[in-house]
Amino acid sequence: MNNTAPDSSSDSPPTPVALTHVPVLAAEVLDALNPAPGKMFVDGTLGGAGHTRLLLAAGARVYGIDQDPFALDRAREAGLDGLTVLQGNYRDMGALLAGAGVSEVDGVLLDIGVSSFQLDDTDRGFSYHSEAPLDMRMSQSGESAAEVVNTYPEAELASIIYEYGEDRLSRRIARGIVYAREKAPIETTVQLAEIVKRAYPGFSKGIHPARRTFQALRIHVNDELGALRDGLSAAEALLRPGGRLAVISFHSLEDRIVKRFLLGSAALRPLTKRPVIAAEDEQASNPRARSAKLRSAEKLDPEVTA
Ligand SMILES: C[S@@+](CC[C@H](N)C(=O)[O-])C[C@H]1O[C@@H](n2cnc3c(N)ncnc32)[C@H](O)[C@@H]1O
Repeated sequence: MNNTAPDSSSDSPPTPVALTHVPVLAAEVLDALNPAPGKMFVDGTLGGAGHTRLLLAAGARVYGIDQDPFALDRAREAGLDGLTVLQGNYRDMGALLAGAGVSEVDGVLLDIGVSSFQLDDTDRGFSYHSEAPLDMRMSQSGESAAEVVNTYPEAELASIIYEYGEDRLSRRIARGIVYAREKAPIETTVQLAEIVKRAYPGFSKGIHPARRTFQALRIHVNDELGALRDGLSAAEALLRPGGRLAVISFHSLEDRIVKRFLLGSAALRPLTKRPVIAAEDEQASNPRARSAKLRSAEKLDPEVTA
């Protein structure tokens, strides 16, 4: 989406961004999805509707799903012709589309993770750069990050930080969290960032040590990897023969899931052997594009492949 802002995993504070919708790997996504008049697509991560606008401009119809009510409000306000907005989790795209009377589509796009709108909205608690309630829920429902850090057993916190943040100091960070919360509940982003920083006594400059812990909590709170696994299966089922799937991921945990799913699927044929990455000029102008990887596939025709 408007990926001109570094995300919370960047080591520099976020800069204010204009509300433009510059989607990541735009040309490459269009190449993979091949939109045209009369075709129907699901954008499972509508966000700022950056990719969706391009699909609509090519004459396609789009069912845009987002679990974030604020993203949907913005999309509705934009009043885009050919877009039907659906609130929910993309893991449930089968049921959401069935509710709209659609059983098959020509393409599915997933541009996973958090949007720059969400990162820039300091009240949402995604970024450790600005003081905010420790929330991180994209859907505004379910357990918040504050509930997780204040109630989970130390060992479970350590395993979340290790598994989803790939932080080798996960145990020390979890111990620090439990020590701090025994004195007072951890309620804000900056409080948590300071606790994590204390687990890294030598830290003075460079990437903030809280980056990995924040990533881990965000992934856990939103069950991002579970949603991705379910979403891939749901997309596979929803595509008609010849239909295309495009998935943009931003870290290795996600890309591994997509890669394995495509390798194990008898119904999908990957369009490229390796993931497509952003060209140098896009990487230079858009920090978030630097870690983006696009994998795409085509649904096989069972009658031809039988
Ligand atoms: C990176 S942004 C998408 C940007 C969009 N492609 C654009 O060009 O503007 C990701 C969006 O997907 C939403 N999202 C993330 N996981 C989701 C899920 N499991 N179900 C529905 N929406 C999800 C987020 O709320 C966010 O708005």
